Amino acid sequence: MLNHASYDFKQTTEELIMTNQNPNSTSSVTSNSNLSLAEQLARPELLALTPYESARRIGGRGDVWINANESPFNNSDLAKLNRYPECQPESLIKAYSDYSGVAAQSIVSTRGADEGIELLIRAFCTPGKDSIACFGPTYGMYAISAQTFNVGVISLSLTDQYQLPSDFAAQTADAKIVFICNPNNPTGTIINKKDIEQAIAAMPNAIVVVDEAYIEFSSTYSVADLIDTYPNLVVLRTLSKAFALAGARCGFLMANTDIIDLIMRVIAPYPVPLPVSEVAEKALSEQGISLMQQQVGLLKEQGIRLSQALTQYGANVLPANGNFVLAEFENTQQVSQAVQQAGIVARAYKDARLKNRIRFSFSNESDTDRLIAVFSSNTLSPNTKDYQQQ
Ligand SMILES: Cc1ncc(COP(=O)(O)O)c(C=O)c1O
Repeated sequence: MLNHASYDFKQTTEELIMTNQNPNSTSSVTSNSNLSLAEQLARPELLALTPYESARRIGGRGDVWINANESPFNNSDLAKLNRYPECQPESLIKAYSDYSGVAAQSIVSTRGADEGIELLIRAFCTPGKDSIACFGPTYGMYAISAQTFNVGVISLSLTDQYQLPSDFAAQTADAKIVFICNPNNPTGTIINKKDIEQAIAAMPNAIVVVDEAYIEFSSTYSVADLIDTYPNLVVLRTLSKAFALAGARCGFLMANTDIIDLIMRVIAPYPVPLPVSEVAEKALSEQGISLMQQQVGLLKEQGIRLSQALTQYGANVLPANGNFVLAEFENTQQVSQAVQQAGIVARAYKDARLKNRIRFSFSNESDTDRLIAVFSSNTLSPNTKDYQQQ
């Protein structure tokens, strides 16, 4: 079993370079059987890279630790805060493995799902050459992360029903990584499992990333159980949403061990701060998970109230499978102003596909009361557009 703390690679660098003639071309993907799919898709220079060996990763035996230029003084209430943390805290990984049902060696903890997105782009995309693809309207960080590394963005569109297009493989043919957000932000819609599985299978020579940041709010399914079936599948998760830990910056990247090996080559030496792993582990305890489930239930109740009020007002409301609802208005500017005047900050978009739409995150009962009051007040003119006629 691979050990995140003292990471070891299965083949030597020389072996990999000798067998890796052109790892980025499609032909090498099908012909070079000595390399795993992940190694064939990786940026070739990463195969030759000797990853940084932090003092923590090298480890050692003894009771005087003077190998990492740390301070011997712990000035905090938190034990060992003067010491560098483990690269991948074993107990945190185990806790997420128990929660998700995915094997520990298939999980990497990151600084939020956002870092997972960035690590994937850095591991698999050569700047100035490769591209990622994503289906909009969707989470903006896939494109922004790619752009910050001079990696191309193939911006595709979900269908009118917010599903993947039937010619998915043709549209994404030139992409090294395809991002699918499910449930999708900001629409809140979900894609049929069979279609996601078909998409993963249709792109065997690309990494297909399913971003499940909002999965706890969706009662349907996860694709995490497909990780052992598809060597090109990556699932992203986060504790920022249902687990109420956005400020802690803790997410998880889950994939087969070949992909995990590559991610461990590009990840920072200490990506998980000690206080973060402590709060994250607590959130992933039996008690923490039950609290999360209870709060997800409460938020969904408030979401139903809000969606009903918006529908009653006359807005076009999409089914909400995350902790937010996207609503379309005829008089968006007026609604936006009224919401702002009530001291409520919601989210509007520049994307033309999201014109006239506002996204409202679910909140507690009193926040929801305040928002519903805006839509039932007489100051707002009624939304009379018939969206069925569009
Ligand atoms: C779909 C999606 N993925 C990832 C993220 C980022 O999550 P994190 O806070 O874990 O970086 C967000 C945040 O809004 C999101 O909406």
